Order: sequence, then C-alpha cells, then structure tokens
Amino acid sequence: MSKNIMINDHAVGVLESDIIFKIAAMAREATQKFGSDNVYNASIGALTGDDGNLLINNVYYEVLKGMPNVLFADYAPMPGEPEFLNASIKACFKDVEVEGYKEAVAVMGGTAAIKHVFWNYADDNDEVLVTDWNWAPYNQIAYENKRVLKTFNMFTPDNTFDTGSMIAAIEELFKKQRSVVIILNFPAHNPTGYTPSEKEAREIYDEVEKLADKHKDKRIVLLFDVAYIDLSKDNARDFMKAYKPLPNNVLSLFSYSLSKTATAYGLRTASLISLSSSAEIALEAKAAVTFSTRGTYTGCVRAAQLAFAKVYNDEEIRAKFEAERAKHIQLVLSRADAFLTEAKKVGLKHSPYQSGFFISIPCDASMAITEALYEKKTFVAPMPKGLRLAICSLAEWKCAKLPAILKDYVK
Ligand SMILES: Cc1ncc(COP(=O)(O)O)c(C=O)c1O
Repeated sequence: MSKNIMINDHAVGVLESDIIFKIAAMAREATQKFGSDNVYNASIGALTGDDGNLLINNVYYEVLKGMPNVLFADYAPMPGEPEFLNASIKACFKDVEVEGYKEAVAVMGGTAAIKHVFWNYADDNDEVLVTDWNWAPYNQIAYENKRVLKTFNMFTPDNTFDTGSMIAAIEELFKKQRSVVIILNFPAHNPTGYTPSEKEAREIYDEVEKLADKHKDKRIVLLFDVAYIDLSKDNARDFMKAYKPLPNNVLSLFSYSLSKTATAYGLRTASLISLSSSAEIALEAKAAVTFSTRGTYTGCVRAAQLAFAKVYNDEEIRAKFEAERAKHIQLVLSRADAFLTEAKKVGLKHSPYQSGFFISIPCDASMAITEALYEKKTFVAPMPKGLRLAICSLAEWKCAKLPAILKDYVK
C-alpha cells in the first residue's frame, strides 16, 4: 500500500538527522565502548575542551543572567535593539574604517541572515553562488527558499582565492538573472580555514567593481558570512582593510553572529549589516529584513542582544570577555599547529588553513574514506571535495596523531 503523504511536493519531510550527526553519534558510541583516549572524533564542529564539553564564554552569561526578567519576557523591537545594532557594527569592523553607509538589523542567527538575504535579493529558482568548499546547510537554506545553490572553484593551484572563477560564474548567471548573490565565508572559512590576504581581497573588490560597471543593469550582492571572525587570528579583518566604495549596483552584507563570537549558539542572535555607497540602499536592506523578520518569527531574543551591547560598551567587562575568548582562540590554534606540523612530516596535503574550527583534506571518494576510517576509530565529515576535520573538538595530542592515521587512507 502506498504511503499516505499529506505534505506538498516541495516539502522534504524527513526526520532523519544528516550524515555528520550520524557520524558523530557513531563516534559517541565508540567513545563509550573503547574510552575517549582511543577514539578520534573530528566530526562535530563545536569548540570543546579536551573533555568534550562545549567551551563557553562565561563573561557573557554572567551579564545575561544579571538582566531583569522583563528583558527576557518582552518582545524586542522588530529591527532589533538599537544598542545591540550599534555595538554589532563596531564589533564587526573593529578598528577598520570602511567607507560607506552602514545599517544593521537583528536576525535569529547567521542562518536567518542567510535565509533573509536569499529571500530578499534573489528571485524564485535563481542560482546563488558559493565556493565549492562550503558549509553544507547553505544548500538546505537555498532549497527551503526556492533558490538553487551553485558552486564555483575556490582555490587556484597555488591555493589562493580563485577570483577569476567567481567572476566568470557571476557573468554566466547574468545571462539569465538580474541579481547574483555570492556568499563569501571568510575569515577562517568553514571548512578550509582560509582567510584572504589584503591583496587577494583587493583583487576581489577590483574585479567586482569592473563587472558592476560593465553590467550597469545588473546587481551584485556580496554576502560576507563572517561567522568565525572573532575566533580567527589577527589578520581576520585584512579583507575589510582592502575594502573600497563600490558602485551602487553592488551591495555588501555582513552576517555577524553571536554564535561563535559570544558562544551563544542556542540564543539565535546575529546582526545583518549592510554596507553601500548609497544611504538608501543600505537602509533598504534593513527595511526588507525587518519585514522578513515579521513574516517569519517576529523579532529576536531581546536579552541576548542587550547582554552583548552591555559587554561591548563596558570597557572592563569587554576586556574580561575578550581575554576569555583569546584563550579559546589559542586552544584552537595550538590544536591546528599540532596537526599541521605532523601533516608536513608525513606529507599529507591539506587546505590553506590560517585559523578557524576546521582543516580539510582534498581527496576523491570522501564517503568511502570516511567509512574506511571507522576501523581506526576515527570519525571525520565527508564533503564533496574531501574530508573535513573539526580540530575545534579534538585534543591537541590527538590532532598530532591524526595526520599519520589519515595518510594511510588518503592517497
Ligand atoms: C560558515 C557558517 N555560517 C553560518 C553558520 C550559522 O551559525 P548561526 O546560525 O548559529 O549563527 C555557521 C554555523 O556553524 C557556519 O559554520
């Protein structure tokens, strides 16, 4: 008898967890059976201590919990709390002066920022561009919003950003679309750890400017998904330093999320910042996303926004908050160092990692290799172009042993 299906054609209706969560569940089972020291779980992308517990910036939570109940209970203003929005712009750009008009709007995490950008800046069935190494949920967000994700080559053979491939992909889409949205997830790109240099970023802006001038009737939306900006090295904002005012048919949007910045993953709070040479276009982004907010979830979590504003605006608290975060950054970097040093010794090729939660290993047949690694009690995430290693959740000594294990499997 055929299954009685009530959902419509485009609804997916699958309760099963995705492949990475399945692998993580296997890793947890193996840990219970064989003990933590014998299992290499590099599958889940959360920053944890060596004991596997989530690392938390307690300074943020002390401020949050000190807030009166009414600030948890009450609705926030639809575009977000002004104090939060101002603080988010300052925190996102820090000491980098970018020229242009800026506006911000609160959204429920970086995921919502991406959803709202897809919805407001692409049309139904439009293709949205992203690098071929990417964060898998972009695809799901696109599908859920009737957009289609299209990839372009991310790295040249010498591991620099392939601007030519990005520009060619935009031009190709201009043949059939009025607007093209491009997601640029850096610094500390997930899953490669790539961060562009000022020179690479300058090339991107120069080429985008030329393209925009050539196609004055078209629109280019650069969505900078800066999810890891505050968990990166000092060069995180080099790509902002290279920024220059772009023509009015280019809009830059920055998705600044508190998930990693304040270890506030579950509080679903982010700011979508627009940057344009036109005040009107920057403000239009805020208006459009505020409307979308009303049409999806009605405002964001008020206390989470206000706690961030308080942390940011109080110098003493901010210093403590940043000191806590600096320890987390250092932990990830020492794990990455341990991995990269050994990878070099055994000759294991990897992505051009600079900072961030992940290092990737380019290879074919990533699913088959992922499955073969189970026999070594090693759990990684398969990606279309290779293996993603979540060094953010692996003790330093395990990071040092991982390259030798992988080398036997990745040819
Ligand atoms: C590259 C990237 N973008 C966006 C997000 C979304 O995070 P959130 O919605 O929690 O802000 C993540 C989370 O892991 C991510 O890795």
